[in-house]
Amino acid sequence: MKMNPLFMLMVVLGIVTGMYSVYGIFPVSMPVIFVGSLAGFFIRLNQVLQERKKQTDAAAAIDFALLRAKQFTPYAGWIKENVRGHDAVTDHIVNHIQQGLAVAAPGQVLGAFLLPGPTGTGKTFLAEMVAKALYKDSEPLLLAMSQYKAAQDVFTLIGPPPGYQGYEIGGSLTRPVLENPYRVIILDEFEKAHLDVQHCFYDILDCGQCYEKSSGKKVHFGACVFFATCNCGVDALRTIWSGTSDPALRSGRAREAMAREGFERPLLARFTDILLMDQLKPVEIAEVACLQIAKHWRQYGIEVEYTSPEVLVEAIRRNVEFQDYGVRQLAGLIREITTPSIEEARRTGATRVRLELDQKTGEVTVSV
Ligand SMILES: Nc1ncnc2c1ncn2[C@@H]1O[C@H](COP(=O)(O)OP(=O)(O)OP(=O)(O)O)[C@@H](O)[C@H]1O
Ligand SMILES: [Mg+2]
Repeated sequence: MKMNPLFMLMVVLGIVTGMYSVYGIFPVSMPVIFVGSLAGFFIRLNQVLQERKKQTDAAAAIDFALLRAKQFTPYAGWIKENVRGHDAVTDHIVNHIQQGLAVAAPGQVLGAFLLPGPTGTGKTFLAEMVAKALYKDSEPLLLAMSQYKAAQDVFTLIGPPPGYQGYEIGGSLTRPVLENPYRVIILDEFEKAHLDVQHCFYDILDCGQCYEKSSGKKVHFGACVFFATCNCGVDALRTIWSGTSDPALRSGRAREAMAREGFERPLLARFTDILLMDQLKPVEIAEVACLQIAKHWRQYGIEVEYTSPEVLVEAIRRNVEFQDYGVRQLAGLIREITTPSIEEARRTGATRVRLELDQKTGEVTVSV
């Protein structure tokens, strides 16, 4: 612990006072020494109280009344427009967050969701869209948990102890939340984190707070929503999901299935819910393709007015790996098949286009 100079002065004066009283030298200076010691004591006391107040202020920085008044349910439609094929999961999450908001208070998080599913089905994307809808001015905090595979990575998360390298930077989890407590926190590939790192989340999810090791400051997660994504347990969850549609039964059985995958039960108990985000159906992949085409062209200032179904069918046909790799491949493929037509459209100065497929050549054609 860093010694406060005033505290040191107080101790020294105390010793001197003692010595003077024992040896009886300069009794006339005793009142001065006594007053000096007393002043030192009160100054230190004041500092301690100020530090405490600062910590409470961090919680006070969260406007819980504002959170309780927030209406999140209307955003469900917007999220579903962007994240295709997971309407039930989206509704579930939005409703839980709305309930969390209604009772927002220090000592509890707004929600914590474990999202297992195969790669490229939109787990991280859904969490990002929730973040955009909930706190549009605050970036989500995305932590790749594969970078926290060793026990000592706990210190990266909550900051190394004072004096250790990088302690002034603070923790990768704690510092951004200290700076802005309104956060959606995405713990990507959660299963890859070391168990000690996972243990850190026991307290955080339970009491909505923790201490940053490097600064000793209390971090408040009362305005945070947590998403943990993982790729494991998918087969077991599919069996459960096809066996029952009762959310309570699914939730209980899902916890058991995830416990078999190596997650600790106390941790699983702290998640609001476990929601499977399974592979998309071909029609949903086509919808994602539509969204991605529009997004890609918009970057060049061109609105896609219409995309013929043949273009989408061609996109799906050519990406034969969809089943195993999710829709992550789709963006690259769309770039590949539409780039020549974007160049053509830009040459003609078009701002709105229709995309069709030339049946003979298999090329995408543009009409203005
Ligand atoms: N259901 C979906 N609706 C709309 N876009 C999607 C969907 N799924 C994936 N995408 C698109 O694909 C990209 C990659 O998806 P995302 O990163 O969410 O996959 P993931 O499920 O987290 O995969 P991984 O398990 O490998 O991390 C997204 O940025 C998004 O553009
Ligand atoms: Mg992901």
